[in-house]
Amino acid sequence: MEYQLCPSILSADFNRLGEQIQALEGQGLKWLHIDVMDGDFVPSISFGMPVIKSIRQESGMFFDVHLMVTEPERYIQDFVACGADSITVHAEACEDLERTVERIRDTGVRAGIALKPATSAMEVSYLLHDIDMLLIMTVQPGFGGQRYIEDSTEKIRQARQMMREEGVDIPIQVDGGINDQTLPLVLEAGASRIVAGSYLFGGDLAENVKKVRKIMGHYAEKV
Ligand code: DX5
Ligand code: ZN
Repeated sequence: MEYQLCPSILSADFNRLGEQIQALEGQGLKWLHIDVMDGDFVPSISFGMPVIKSIRQESGMFFDVHLMVTEPERYIQDFVACGADSITVHAEACEDLERTVERIRDTGVRAGIALKPATSAMEVSYLLHDIDMLLIMTVQPGFGGQRYIEDSTEKIRQARQMMREEGVDIPIQVDGGINDQTLPLVLEAGASRIVAGSYLFGGDLAENVKKVRKIMGHYAEKV
């Protein structure tokens, strides 16, 4: 299983966004988690295509775009055009989830499905063979800096179990409230793509990345 730390730029200092992405890249991180919010699926609005297009010019990182957007199918082509390498859509946001996943894959980028805390992973079991990643939200989507929802640990474990039963081995991504205390819980439960925003960007970015990687390294070795 490939482990990836996916820094969420939602918590970056937007005045120095390019510089901070370079710093992450300089530390050897491969993935960048990009949260797009539309003010409809979630209450807040973040940023969209122009920002992604702009950072794409300077960065070779893998752009992991998390769309917290109603009917994201409308924008797949636009996000691919501005540089997404992977597009994750919310199961709750799509009228036809299967078709949306198919449209994403038709463009050649990777496809992920995200679940809000109240949505059971069983609801998307029929699509497990068609996706590249399952994102289990460990907070309510919409804002950075929230507290990890404890029930998520069991949900990750159950999703891992469901995958074993279905005979698939796709990575589980977790997003929200990840810090040095909650990270061991999600790793132990079976997550391998770790999104972190406020914990990484609060304080010394390089130091925080090192701390997280140390914990992840411990688990990765055991696999
Ligand atoms: C929340 C976003 C997250 C957010 C995580 O809706 O999807 O990616 O940036 O932030 P932290 O790590 O601060 O909880
Ligand atoms: Zn996210």
